[in-house]
Amino acid sequence: MIAVACDHAALKLKNEVIKHLKENGYEVEDFGIHEEGAVDYPDYALPVAEAVASGKADKGILICGTGIGMSIAANKVKGIRCALCSDTFSAHATREHNDANILAFGERVVGPGLAMDIVDTFLKTEFSGAERHEKRIRKISAIEDKYFK
Ligand code: RB5
Repeated sequence: MIAVACDHAALKLKNEVIKHLKENGYEVEDFGIHEEGAVDYPDYALPVAEAVASGKADKGILICGTGIGMSIAANKVKGIRCALCSDTFSAHATREHNDANILAFGERVVGPGLAMDIVDTFLKTEFSGAERHEKRIRKISAIEDKYFK
């Protein structure tokens, strides 16, 4: 299952992403928002990050104006590696190298065509499993162990 959420700056693109995912056979859980109106992006990043961290969701997608606030908030949850991507090279590389489990991007940054390519690239690319990347991810986990209570 793919967990998806947005804030008020990205409702249109979030709905387009969900339609695209469903058309391509993905199971999706829509964590909002569901209607226009200003909200605070951490309130929507958190449930998606928790769904991914708990294993309820396989991956997450977070969209706000820039993707930045959503990515910062999601990365406060232990076990989350949320990657802000505005291009397909980054989406590919962050899966292969960082084993990113949440993708973030901004409706005010990328158009819908590029957004769908970024989503497809992120979801189709596997982690390489190379020891050098595993080691670096273990070092990220060690930082979490040091600072997360
Ligand atoms: C909302 O105006 C905007 O700040 C938000 O969508 C996001 O871009 C924050 O990082």
